[in-house]
Amino acid sequence: MANRLDSAGLTFRQDYFDDPTGWAALVCLLKDIFGIDIGPLQQLGGPDPSSMPFGWFDATGELAANISAFALPFVINGRVVHAAGLQSGAVRPQWRGRGLYRDLTVKALDWCEQQGFEAVILYTDKPSLYEPYGFRSIPLHRYEGAAPAPSTPGAPALPLSPTNADDLALLQSLLKARSPVSTTLSVTTNAAMFLINTQLDPDIRVSFLKDQQAVIAWKIDEAGRFNLLDVVAAQIPTLAAIVGGLEMAPTAVEVFFRPDKLGWAGVPRPLESGTRLMLQGLGDVAPASPAMLSPMADF
Ligand SMILES: CC(C)(COP(=O)(O)OP(=O)(O)OC[C@H]1O[C@@H](n2cnc3c(N)ncnc32)[C@H](O)[C@@H]1OP(=O)(O)O)[C@@H](O)C(=O)NCCC(=O)NCCS
Repeated sequence: MANRLDSAGLTFRQDYFDDPTGWAALVCLLKDIFGIDIGPLQQLGGPDPSSMPFGWFDATGELAANISAFALPFVINGRVVHAAGLQSGAVRPQWRGRGLYRDLTVKALDWCEQQGFEAVILYTDKPSLYEPYGFRSIPLHRYEGAAPAPSTPGAPALPLSPTNADDLALLQSLLKARSPVSTTLSVTTNAAMFLINTQLDPDIRVSFLKDQQAVIAWKIDEAGRFNLLDVVAAQIPTLAAIVGGLEMAPTAVEVFFRPDKLGWAGVPRPLESGTRLMLQGLGDVAPASPAMLSPMADF
């Protein structure tokens, strides 16, 4: 792999989400490389306003290489960390091996430092790409166990569709005022990721429990278990209130974050996934108990 940067024929740009052609070039890159479509984000309130993309464009306006930084404050062991996230890291195959990704990674990390972020986090299936920059993997755990007896439901749960304007407004107001879903490890706010993640997995259900003023992101997995993915509320309801409110009576439950606010104790299990959560900064801090970030915060 070349150590020098070869960017012949390319132009560097930064901060191009307000330019419709720049945004479209990123949508196209992510479709081509990862097969995911973030285009619908424009109808869901747009990309995170703190986003700062870095990219190399070719002469036709196609994005050859990209990485985006954005503010991603999170809670770890009860402390709010002023952190940035890195996402959408990709180089088109014909432009690989020229140092473009290293160049963008360095630029993005320099920007994070200038902005005063105290930590940077990212997800990757290639940890060795980031270890040279001081990133380390954080082990991730989900929780499983028997379902609690459901509380008596109040008002019936309302299914929400983020593409419906009224539902989107309700979701956005709750996302703005949400409490961290876990004090061990969770994001504080990240409306854009929550909203786009509702569109990327067709099995995800989003339900509003009016009595609790809580939005529940959930699904039923292949084994028929109730999977609790996230809870968006100023006050997190108990798991008994959640399953009761959804009028479900599951036998087994899996919770995809540490359930320290749910009034329920499951057993932690390592998350089987090829993707790692990596953290740069904060010394050797790690979650004090097994934990993971909600899949609705995936970025
Ligand atoms: C991974 C990817 C971004 C590398 O792009 P690239 O332009 O070839 O990377 P560069 O030429 O800038 O090389 C940067 C460094 O990464 C290393 N690298 C490249 N591909 C790698 C891989 N698949 N796994 C681990 N390290 C890799 C290079 O050896 C180089 O190391 P060096 O700085 O010590 O010389 C590109 O192959 C890609 O887009 N892959 C598909 C999407 C993806 O995996 N994105 C990253 C996910 S977080």
